[in-house]
Amino acid sequence: MKTLGIDIGGSAIKGAPVDLKTGWLLAERLRIEIPKIATPAATAKIVAQIAQHFKWHGPVGIGFPGVIHGSRILTSANLHPKFVGCDGVKLFAAATGCRVALTNDAAAAALAEMRYGAGRGFQGKALLLTLGTGIGSALVFRGSVVPCELGHLPMRGRDAERFVSALARKRRGLSWEEWGVELGGYVRMLEHILWPELIIIGGGVSAKSRRFFRFVKPRARMVPAKLRNEAGIVGAAAWAAEPLA
Ligand code: BGC
Repeated sequence: MKTLGIDIGGSAIKGAPVDLKTGWLLAERLRIEIPKIATPAATAKIVAQIAQHFKWHGPVGIGFPGVIHGSRILTSANLHPKFVGCDGVKLFAAATGCRVALTNDAAAAALAEMRYGAGRGFQGKALLLTLGTGIGSALVFRGSVVPCELGHLPMRGRDAERFVSALARKRRGLSWEEWGVELGGYVRMLEHILWPELIIIGGGVSAKSRRFFRFVKPRARMVPAKLRNEAGIVGAAAWAAEPLA
């Protein structure tokens, strides 16, 4: 089975058709930068452009960086505030003319990593963190993915993602070591309440794990995402084929 996976991020929207048996992209992914003012209508236009590029008419899975309840988008921390309260499934289905399944972007990445990547075959409690514009999070236990919002835990009076996301490292001009140490403090706080056995780090920085992993010092085994930055696309595609989607 093949579905189209689309990952809506803070800076770009990426998509590709995915073979759900293997988790491999069936074509080179298309990446389109998000305009400065990405209203729901402008974002839906880009999503439609991606579907058209692949001449797609089948099911589409979309990962969105916010809380999703059913077909509704409840939060939009790093995208346009007009997304809040919007029926995302309706919006993207109308734009693409395809059947759409919507989920949180980090939950999508977790689904992909557990099925095809770093968590494959793992049945215990895993925590996936994606470090990008914000911090995405999901807990997984025996294959069930639970989307979380751990990037918004308070740290020094603000959301933790303002200090320890990949974007925050650049914005604050931190070295890999300084950032890794701070990330370590955050990860240990999460471990204190969640006690994962495995931590998977995703997002673009997962490719640079050698530069900062040694400073994090978690209790659990920590590994970089195997599907790297493509986990969001692959997981969104897999979500479109879930029976309840
Ligand atoms: C959002 C999450 C999202 C994460 C990564 C956060 O700001 O609230 O829903 O998963 O960013 O994109």
